[in-house]
Amino acid sequence: MNDIGIAPSILAADFGYLMRDIKAVENADYLHIDVMDGHYVNNISFGIPVIQSIRKYTDMEFFTHLMITDPERYVKAFADAGSDNITFHVECSSDPDALINEIWSLGKSAGIAVHPDTPIEKVFPYIGKVDIILVMTVYPGFGGQGYLDVSDDRLRQLRKAIDDRQADTVIAVDGGVAEDNIRHIYECGARLFVAGSSVFHAEDPAEAVEELKRCAALS
Ligand code: DX5
Ligand code: ZN
Repeated sequence: MNDIGIAPSILAADFGYLMRDIKAVENADYLHIDVMDGHYVNNISFGIPVIQSIRKYTDMEFFTHLMITDPERYVKAFADAGSDNITFHVECSSDPDALINEIWSLGKSAGIAVHPDTPIEKVFPYIGKVDIILVMTVYPGFGGQGYLDVSDDRLRQLRKAIDDRQADTVIAVDGGVAEDNIRHIYECGARLFVAGSSVFHAEDPAEAVEELKRCAALS
């Protein structure tokens, strides 16, 4: 994938007007859905019933980011709820290979996420096995944080590892992505950009998506 993708994170949407906010960003490539369980991260967001509900009203691809312990227990429920991609944290699974296979067997695309404090090499074994490697560029749990500069080198190392293996795994980044840094993050190797605040806190979220695309690709 040479193209770039934008995935607005509904964590930054107004939950009182959730479908209105989702409809506003249907020009984006994915809808990023942050699930938090209050165990793996110090926050609780929403879960399966919310995904089931919004599934009825949009055809967007659902990129479900599970920030939960024991993801094995819930992947089937998240698949049945309408996720298109299921991404779990490498830190949370005792057998990531088996979980990736299970996600595939459910007919879904698989992703693996990595916490900023986890050595990036930890995800190298899954290059070519997952569709997406999601590099957390903030501490998971909350939107609106600043991009961690240590991410630059981590992204470059992962980019090199993927290119060396001639794999087509997509590098996604999550956290602190904005118009003024997206081109730089692209140059470090990312191709799919999760963006919460910079999209939903903008006056015109659809236009914010277009602006992020323009800034990333300078097109
Ligand atoms: C953080 C979430 C992110 C978050 C990004 O735990 O995984 O997806 O919504 O929000 P911003 O873009 O505001 O940093
Ligand atoms: Zn996320």
